[in-house]
Amino acid sequence: MTVAKRYRLDRFLSIATNTPRRSIRRILAQKRVTVDGEIADDIRQQVDQFSLVTLDGIALQHRSRRYILLHKPVGVVSATKDDIHRTVIDVLRDSGLPDSELNDLHIAGRLDLNSSGLLLLTNDSDWSAALMAPDKKVAKVYEVTLENPISDDCITAFEQGIYFPYENITTKPAVLERLTPNTARVTLVEGKYHQIKRMFGRFRNPVLKLHRVAIGDIRLDASLESGQFLSLSAKEITPNL
Ligand code: URA
Repeated sequence: MTVAKRYRLDRFLSIATNTPRRSIRRILAQKRVTVDGEIADDIRQQVDQFSLVTLDGIALQHRSRRYILLHKPVGVVSATKDDIHRTVIDVLRDSGLPDSELNDLHIAGRLDLNSSGLLLLTNDSDWSAALMAPDKKVAKVYEVTLENPISDDCITAFEQGIYFPYENITTKPAVLERLTPNTARVTLVEGKYHQIKRMFGRFRNPVLKLHRVAIGDIRLDASLESGQFLSLSAKEITPNL
């Protein structure tokens, strides 16, 4: 079984083995339980869905944290299920990720259907919540191609923030670096719905291509082809937070 959040050890064991809690106290006192390789005899110890808990040497739960970096292709929807379009889960399956590793993943920061680039998926909701938390201000970097040349006014507006009346919010300062007249690198510290398209839309400048290249310290390696993925280690994902 898996637990949703943090449980006290006695509660976890009681549910996992269908045993009354008073019997669990005895089992713990007999030192028959381990958590992450250490004997556990304190009912108040906390466990979560990633703790390796054994009773008499048999694992009751063994679920590891997974972090997947996908190069999302254009035309694929950032969802786990969709009736019309291929999803990023379909792409990962086609690229060889087994179903056992796919079924509990969720997306940390979506990309639009016609955007491409770096997409992170995980089963670690604490990590994805921290990565997307507004106060962490994790930078998301995009390469953008526009229909028209980028004006100086547009650069200033990105820096100062643009008001969106529908949500009654002003966007946080964003960096718009013009690379050529019609291409730019944009760095945001938030992720509102269609944010970049709507920001350029204010200047009647349609976005032709939008490609995410980084989230925090995690970068999309140029050698990773569209539709391909990498598994990231815990070390590779921690410097972000
Ligand atoms: N802004 C957008 O408009 N679309 C994306 O996919 C990401 C940022």
